[in-house]
Amino acid sequence: MMFYPSPPKVLGAVVLAQTFFLSTAASAQDVGNGAGNTAAIDLTTLSPAAAAVDNAQLFPSERLQLTDAVLANLTSLGVDTSLFAFGTPSDAIALDKRTGGKCKVFPGDKAWPSKPVWKLLDLLSGGQLIATIPSASSCYKGWGDEDEAECEYVTDNWTNSFFHMEDPTSVMWPLWQGRTCLPSATPTEPCTLGGYPSYALNITTISQIQLAVNFARLTNIRLVIKNTGHDFNGRSAGAGALAVWTHHLKDIKLLESYKTPSYKGRAVKIGAGVQAFELYEAGKKLGFTAVGGEGKTVGIAGGYVAGGGHSPLSSIYGLAADHVLAFEIVLADGRFVTASETSNTELFWALRGGGGATYGVVTSVVFKVYPVMKATAVQFSFASNSTAPGGVSVDAFWAGARAYFDYFIPHTEAGAYSYFSIVGTAPGEYLFNMLPFFAPNMTQAETAGLLAPWLDDLKGFGIEVDPVYFPADNFHDAWDAGFPLEAVGGSAAKTGGRLFPRKNWEDEATLNATFDAIKYPVEEGGMFLGFNIAAPGLGRRGSALPDNAVNPAWRETVLHAIAVIFLLDPSPEAIAVQSERLTMDWLGRWRDVSPGAGAYASEADVTEPDVQQSFYGDSKYPRLYALKKKMDPYGLFYAPTAVGSEDWYVTDQIEWLPTQNGRLCRV
Ligand SMILES: Cc1cc2nc3c(=O)[nH]c(=O)nc-3n(C[C@H](O)[C@H](O)[C@H](O)COP(=O)(O)OP(=O)(O)OC[C@H]3O[C@@H](n4cnc5c(N)ncnc54)[C@H](O)[C@@H]3O)c2cc1C
Ligand SMILES: *[C@@H]1O[C@H](CO)[C@@H](O)[C@H](O)[C@H]1NC(C)=O
Ligand SMILES: *[C@@H]1O[C@H](CO)[C@@H](O)[C@H](O)[C@H]1NC(C)=O
Ligand SMILES: *[C@@H]1O[C@H](CO)[C@@H](O)[C@H](O)[C@H]1NC(C)=O
Ligand SMILES: *[C@@H]1O[C@H](CO)[C@@H](O)[C@H](O)[C@H]1NC(C)=O
Ligand SMILES: *[C@@H]1O[C@H](CO)[C@@H](O)[C@H](O)[C@H]1NC(C)=O
Ligand SMILES: *[C@@H]1O[C@H](CO)[C@@H](O)[C@H](O)[C@H]1NC(C)=O
Repeated sequence: MMFYPSPPKVLGAVVLAQTFFLSTAASAQDVGNGAGNTAAIDLTTLSPAAAAVDNAQLFPSERLQLTDAVLANLTSLGVDTSLFAFGTPSDAIALDKRTGGKCKVFPGDKAWPSKPVWKLLDLLSGGQLIATIPSASSCYKGWGDEDEAECEYVTDNWTNSFFHMEDPTSVMWPLWQGRTCLPSATPTEPCTLGGYPSYALNITTISQIQLAVNFARLTNIRLVIKNTGHDFNGRSAGAGALAVWTHHLKDIKLLESYKTPSYKGRAVKIGAGVQAFELYEAGKKLGFTAVGGEGKTVGIAGGYVAGGGHSPLSSIYGLAADHVLAFEIVLADGRFVTASETSNTELFWALRGGGGATYGVVTSVVFKVYPVMKATAVQFSFASNSTAPGGVSVDAFWAGARAYFDYFIPHTEAGAYSYFSIVGTAPGEYLFNMLPFFAPNMTQAETAGLLAPWLDDLKGFGIEVDPVYFPADNFHDAWDAGFPLEAVGGSAAKTGGRLFPRKNWEDEATLNATFDAIKYPVEEGGMFLGFNIAAPGLGRRGSALPDNAVNPAWRETVLHAIAVIFLLDPSPEAIAVQSERLTMDWLGRWRDVSPGAGAYASEADVTEPDVQQSFYGDSKYPRLYALKKKMDPYGLFYAPTAVGSEDWYVTDQIEWLPTQNGRLCRV
């Protein structure tokens, strides 16, 4: 049993709940003064599961829990807690009987919670409930906040991930939200909620997550988890939903000696809202290296780690999910538990790679960390220009790009990671952009040495490059200098991907066929994004890979490839045509040259034909699905392409353009 030294804390909301009760129920009996009653509610009385946290301390936000005793006390204070009770095995059946229908309750339905009911949720959660106002509403009439200057600010910031992550419901890829309120100086359509949730709960305590989970389950409304809103496939959006917004769970704690049966050493515990730049800044300050993403503002403990999580350090250390030692999580029944090597072990397996928004709301993650390590980032580019005197010919350009592929295996074996793009600049002309090449544990000279054979090849084709090096004695500084903040907010592109297996590099003919399949979308006017990664770099890792739910395709790959198709005509019909073209023609060619491989669910195609095989692996999907059925018999957690999503559909869709702005219904 752990001892928590902080004084008993009390939900500020309890006082508010009483106020609510007194001010709305005329016949309310005297429930006493707030101080007296709130003092009686001791939220440090933890459920046994939560108290079993290995040797990490709970964050203050995690000590504020909803328990049976808290509910009983609220009830004794006269609060109607019937919509906040924990789940029981019989609920799942009862719910289906009660609703009769197949769909989640939607705004406008008779069963949609009334204003006073929403008010009660707000009061119990300490006033943290936010009714959604679309993030670009200031550009429109109708929401009461029309404002030219504000609209200009929103327009200017729309491609900036900081803007969307600070908003309770805004998402960074509005295509799947339905594009119902894009910033515009001259809007022609009204601004509507579309796929934005109706409400968001701005989470500061775990008890608020539990309230939201119980409330959504018992009212049969859709629940969405929004962390940063980076998700490419609309997995953090959903019409008619209550969103659990985890962005403000920002605690970071270095644990000097963390023990599990298989690990003893330094670890870092981070709250669900911590983002890459914050984790790396903490690492620099406190002297550790953590495995996180390249994207500066991506959330580490949410969708990223749940999907596996690739990192500039992956070729040397593996994926982020391979480093998890424990999760704290609120389950579909509302209970707060630990998943680790010693508790809820099947859940622990699934949460490491099996995807977000499936088994519960993760509140914190403990990661194994490494000592400080030097690293070097490098940026350079080259382009064809067949019309310029002495310019690089198109053939030379492709030969230079193709030559790079010959180094994918040796580069990852040396521990390197790269992030590069190939795109047309003018009809028949192309640009290759290395942004950046990243070499962990290497000096500038060592990095230059690793790149030299390829750069020599380029010279042989008449291509001169001018690499800019960013060496540093720690990961943070090399990463910060090497990786620019990526632009978001676009709705004129659709992406899909493939984890090309290493065996495609084993003979030249297969590699040529692979390269041709990759070249094709670029020649068709699209963009190629490539990550040369091996997770882990074969032969580099001392210990065996952990057994977790990471897509088995990750273990075989040396190229995580992304194709981008541009949606120049914004009409839904035209988008659908391009969307199908990406999925069936461009990515179809990729699948044809890599049969049995997969794609990285967090950076993949939302209309991928065989999601279960491709995103999870045939060897793992049945186990993930069985656990989903067991842990969430209520069907509370849903996200497109998530485990179990095949049991649901969203109404009012155009084929090939699946938005989140219809009703969520059971198949
Ligand atoms: C600019 C950019 C850079 C990227 N860089 C990388 C990279 O370097 N490496 C990499 O692997 N991926 C990268 N990605 C992809 C990224 O991993 C996914 O977009 C991921 O889903 C983001 O997770 P999030 O929690 O930040 O975002 P959100 O969109 O808020 O959430 C994503 C999904 O996770 C669920 N979720 C969020 N929080 C929780 C929680 N606490 N508990 C349970 N479920 C939760 C959400 O419901 C949703 O389904 C990048 C994406 C972008 C747009
Ligand atoms: C509930 O109230 C009782 C009596 O008022 C008190 O003894 C008990 O500690 C409270 N329990 C919790 C979990 O707050
Ligand atoms: C928004 O844009 C302004 C200038 O256009 C900039 O100063 C500000 O930092 C941006 N804010 C965010 C959150 O992106
Ligand atoms: C959410 O809560 C945090 C922490 O209390 C607060 O700083 C922030 O302003 C809130 N955000 C919104 C949009 O209410
Ligand atoms: C090619 O080079 C010429 C100058 O010689 C320049 O004007 C033109 O913009 C270049 N084209 C591309 C596609 O870079
Ligand atoms: C980093 O490089 C040093 C010296 O070359 C080597 O001893 C060490 O094992 C490397 N670290 C990792 C994590 O590869
Ligand atoms: C692969 O392509 C290269 C250049 O495009 C060519 O020279 C080589 O002959 C091809 N190899 C095979 C086996 O097809």
